Amino acid sequence: MMTTELITTRRALMIGAAQAGVAITLSWPSQSAETLPKMVVTHDPSCGCCGVWIAHVKAAGFPVEVVRTAKLAPLKTGLGVPKILASCHTAQIGGYVIEGHVPADAIKRLLIERPKAIGLAVAGMPTGSPGMEMPGTPPETYDVVLFAPDSHHVFARYRGSQKI
Ligand code: CU
Ligand code: CU
Repeated sequence: MMTTELITTRRALMIGAAQAGVAITLSWPSQSAETLPKMVVTHDPSCGCCGVWIAHVKAAGFPVEVVRTAKLAPLKTGLGVPKILASCHTAQIGGYVIEGHVPADAIKRLLIERPKAIGLAVAGMPTGSPGMEMPGTPPETYDVVLFAPDSHHVFARYRGSQKI
């Protein structure tokens, strides 16, 4: 049953994306802090990379509210973030959960396509992902995973800040 739902969702997504292709291209650059929903980012005050990621999403136009707490595990569990996909910070925006160093353009695509899912995650903290840049160290290739209660699939693949 889950498989069928997934395939249906994926097909709808692909058709939707194809039909919306022009609209997506045109609407992305024009999105601004006035049109993007507010993002609430929760992170441990001792985490430095979280602040760099917050600067990345702010630069992309997202209005951000920051919540600092050392008790992130119960929030992640409560929001349905699978342990295997956990990272440092956890954000909430437009009814979705954003876990870890997800590139801002993947979040914009999520908000346009609005797939049935809990949200997006970049597991761990890949080198070169937004907020994890390390000068002199080659960026890693990593997946942005779309996760639902019973399924995960690759939403996009990036190397550093570049979609591949
Ligand atoms: Cu981090
Ligand atoms: Cu973080």
